[in-house]
Amino acid sequence: MSLSRWLIVAVCLVAQAPALAQTPLDYEVFRTRIQPLFLAKREGHARCYSCHRGTGAGNGYLQMLTPGATTWDDTQSRKNFESIRRFIVPGDPLSSRLLLHPLDEHAGGDRFHAGGKHWQSQQNPEWQALAAWVRGNSPGMQAAGSRVRVVQTNAAGDNVHLIDPATNTIAGVIKGIEVPHGAAAAPDGTRLYFSDEAESTLDVVDARTLAVIKRIPLSGRPNNIDIAKDGKKVYVSIAQAPGAVDVIDTARMERVSSIAVEGAVHNTYVTPDGKFIVAGSIAGRKLTVIDAATEQIAWKLPFENGVRPITFERNADGSTKRMFVQISEVHGFAVVDFATQREVARVTLPDLPPPAMKNTEGVQGSPSHGIGIAPDGKTLWATSKYYAYVAAFSMPDLAPLGIVPVGHDPDWLTFTPDGKTVYVACAGSDFVVAVDVATRKEVARIPVGFVPKRNITATLAN
Ligand code: HEC
Repeated sequence: MSLSRWLIVAVCLVAQAPALAQTPLDYEVFRTRIQPLFLAKREGHARCYSCHRGTGAGNGYLQMLTPGATTWDDTQSRKNFESIRRFIVPGDPLSSRLLLHPLDEHAGGDRFHAGGKHWQSQQNPEWQALAAWVRGNSPGMQAAGSRVRVVQTNAAGDNVHLIDPATNTIAGVIKGIEVPHGAAAAPDGTRLYFSDEAESTLDVVDARTLAVIKRIPLSGRPNNIDIAKDGKKVYVSIAQAPGAVDVIDTARMERVSSIAVEGAVHNTYVTPDGKFIVAGSIAGRKLTVIDAATEQIAWKLPFENGVRPITFERNADGSTKRMFVQISEVHGFAVVDFATQREVARVTLPDLPPPAMKNTEGVQGSPSHGIGIAPDGKTLWATSKYYAYVAAFSMPDLAPLGIVPVGHDPDWLTFTPDGKTVYVACAGSDFVVAVDVATRKEVARIPVGFVPKRNITATLAN
């Protein structure tokens, strides 16, 4: 590029910097996810395209489709993108005419649109997709082309839902896994693994076709699972006496060993550095740390009650610093120092004053079940089944930041790779709540299958 061209470009970039730097409007997202909304038929409504097609002038801001074509080509899409931009205030959905005009007045829209009110609520998935695009903060968008999915198992169902976090809609359903328990994704995104309680198998799913390609027999009824960082082994909690962690070789697709652990195992984790396998037992009331290389038990830590979900804090070198351990009957979690192998603190979740109702039914011995640290390491989140909320704490000091109400019996949570959103599975409400980590506000409520519990975030191969 010549110096003068470069200068012009540089000056333009500087001139536009404030808006662009915060919230670029992504053309690819517009082309693949937003444009289809203009052609979609909504029950009883005329399509946006039917009234807004034209040459770009006046209300005709959508290009005419080429006869016979069902969507716009790239040149037409770019023209649509340029004319639609006029109705957008980047970063601010509620100031953007495109989002206010077809939105019902009672839901925050404006008074009248000659084309009608197509969305009755800001929770509408189409509206949410538009809002995410305008905010420019949606995880799926930064990695346009890759498929980031929140993988949601349905514990009382026979299927698994895949949520697209860019639109907060269901992007796929895996069928034929009855009572799915834990989920894990191959690091290369080609496969998903699920423990299958009905068949006592580890089910291997092709990430492209979403078909079950193999059911690997286990040594007993499974609970939760995790995968080695290199993807070569899957570790499966065996939730029946005497208790074990089954080791599955993913290349051979068979069980290669069972590590004996005292007490039925509920959750199994691989530490973030990949060096240890940590197994929590409810019946054995114990946490067992296993050396992943030798499959020998390194150390154990007993608790007064069953060991439930765990999350891990890392040292700068990636090794484990502290573990945050949920315990049966405890409305909070224990803090365990990994180096000294001791419990060093306990954190209790807040009780809510009336009129909040304390729900003690169906908590399955576990008032707080579901815990995780955001990818940036700055906040820790834990759920309350007593009060149907998710609580946030700052890290590393564990100062309470606040709570966010969710659905009934929140059971598990997972973060998007960019750490901006946390997805909370609400087992008693059959939906997943997406919460904005920075503002601690609900951004979407996504209906899934029956009794959604474990979930993970996976980047699937295309
Ligand atoms: C029945 C025809 C019709 C349909 C269907 C329709 N519109 Fe409109 N729309 C209009 C007319 C006419 C106007 C100009 C008058 C007004 O603002 O109400 C308009 C205005 C707008 C504007 C404001 C344009 C400006 O100049 O400020 C936006 C944005 C818009 N429509 C978006 C949509 C979207 C998105 C859809 C589909 C979800 C849609 N419209 C469906 C007829 C329609």
